[in-house]
Amino acid sequence: MTATLATASYIGATILFILSLGGLSNPETSRRGNLYGMIGMTIAVLATVSGPHVTSAGYAWIIGAMVVGGSIGLYASRVVRMTQMPELVALMHSLVGLAAMLVGFANYIDPAASAEFTGAAKSIHEMEIYIGILIGAVTFTGSVIAFGKLSGKIGGKTLLLPGRHWLNLAGLLVVIWFGREFLHAESINDGMMPLVVMTVIALLFGIHMVMAIGGADMPVVISMLNSYSGWAAAATGFMLSNDLLIVVGALVGSSGAILSYIMCRAMNRNFISVIAGGFGSDGGAPAPAGGVQPAGEVNPVLAAETAELLRESKNVIIVPGYGMAVAQAQHTVYEITKVLREKGVNVRFGIHPVAGRMPGHMNVLLAEAKVPYDIVLEMDELNEDFPDTDVAMIIGANDIVNPAAEEDPSSPIAGMPVLQVWKAKTSIVMKRSMATGYAGVDNPLFYKDNNRMLFGDAKKMLDEVLTALKA
Ligand code: TAP
Repeated sequence: MTATLATASYIGATILFILSLGGLSNPETSRRGNLYGMIGMTIAVLATVSGPHVTSAGYAWIIGAMVVGGSIGLYASRVVRMTQMPELVALMHSLVGLAAMLVGFANYIDPAASAEFTGAAKSIHEMEIYIGILIGAVTFTGSVIAFGKLSGKIGGKTLLLPGRHWLNLAGLLVVIWFGREFLHAESINDGMMPLVVMTVIALLFGIHMVMAIGGADMPVVISMLNSYSGWAAAATGFMLSNDLLIVVGALVGSSGAILSYIMCRAMNRNFISVIAGGFGSDGGAPAPAGGVQPAGEVNPVLAAETAELLRESKNVIIVPGYGMAVAQAQHTVYEITKVLREKGVNVRFGIHPVAGRMPGHMNVLLAEAKVPYDIVLEMDELNEDFPDTDVAMIIGANDIVNPAAEEDPSSPIAGMPVLQVWKAKTSIVMKRSMATGYAGVDNPLFYKDNNRMLFGDAKKMLDEVLTALKA
């Protein structure tokens, strides 16, 4: 393929990636968005492999790598469950970071690559290498720790080192100092020491940044690492002089940054303190024993009574959470919704921005069950409607309906906006036990007088409710 054809293919692929991102912003167009992305990526890979930079000697390696990588991808797509997607995404981000690091080192020690540049161009190229490795290393270890936390291999508790912000600042200053040393190095041997020192600091910073974040704040970190992985890819593009990688990296980096900003707003967190790491952890002093900790009696309820309450309602809001995803109860939820709507009950769904374990998790599940989009509303669109709601049915959700976020300033989730289900005439929480949610925080909702607990697996309980409703 000639250089002109490769460039034209890259432009085509870039347009498809932009259309893909546009499509993915709405559940109704997301399938089309995915398709655009797949076609764009196929064009990008074919144009790169058959492009002028690849010699015939490299084909065996490339095809071998594609077979191995493709097989792993195919296997993962078959075995990874929907609830494990965030872990998988975190792992993939770590690979982008690792790739940026390795490309940076390879580029630096490759005599052919360094011979291409002289004078100012050489300094710019070395700066690209330094920054590329820096972002790659932070993304790599940060994502590995995020993977560990999301999969439960590392505890969700925050690790707050004394003077952590000073440690981060000292690290940043050392990195800048060694950057100067690196740019002034006379030979590859001289430059290697500052490069390695910076890499070690960046690797440690990635660990420190994500270890300092816990509980309900993890979603913000994931979207931030998503953004970092985009910038790491863009940096790789600069190092390899590959325009497509630069553009695609910038697209991922900026869309991830926008998502992080939206997440921060949804969680009422400060964007700058997110980047510094360990945000939100200072406000989370443990609640004094016997003080604000929720206590009292809970009111258990049976599936038949739940069906009765639903049947007698005019307005129902269903709040799905992570437990609905675990139980795969979305299809039964929709069956119940259909029965109630046929009886003239106004049923709507309330979606919290961080419900489940990934952005849009609940929307995807409800779309899969074919729940009409017009009854699926964002938290802000219906939070004021709870006082006029007869039953708020909470299916496997916990943190996102925790009144402590509004009522208890010492709670680790204080300040996070939540769905105010306790304002409904009756709330029914469907879960298996009194266990806490992802943030590990007790939920005073369970003890409120107007709350009922329907204990059991969400799918099993909803099947029973459906049977009772149809009886
Ligand atoms: P959680 O607060 O994690 O609560 C889920 C509840 O579901 C648990 O308390 C659990 O209680 C119940 N459950 C689990 N399996 C169940 C089953 N088979 N049947 C019925 N119930 C089941 O979930 P949430 O309310 O959706 O809040 C999301 C949390 O995850 C937030 O803290 C958020 O910050 C965090 N997070 C979100 C994301 C994104 S991007 N969305 C990413 C990472 C973390 P039992 O064990 O008693 O059944």
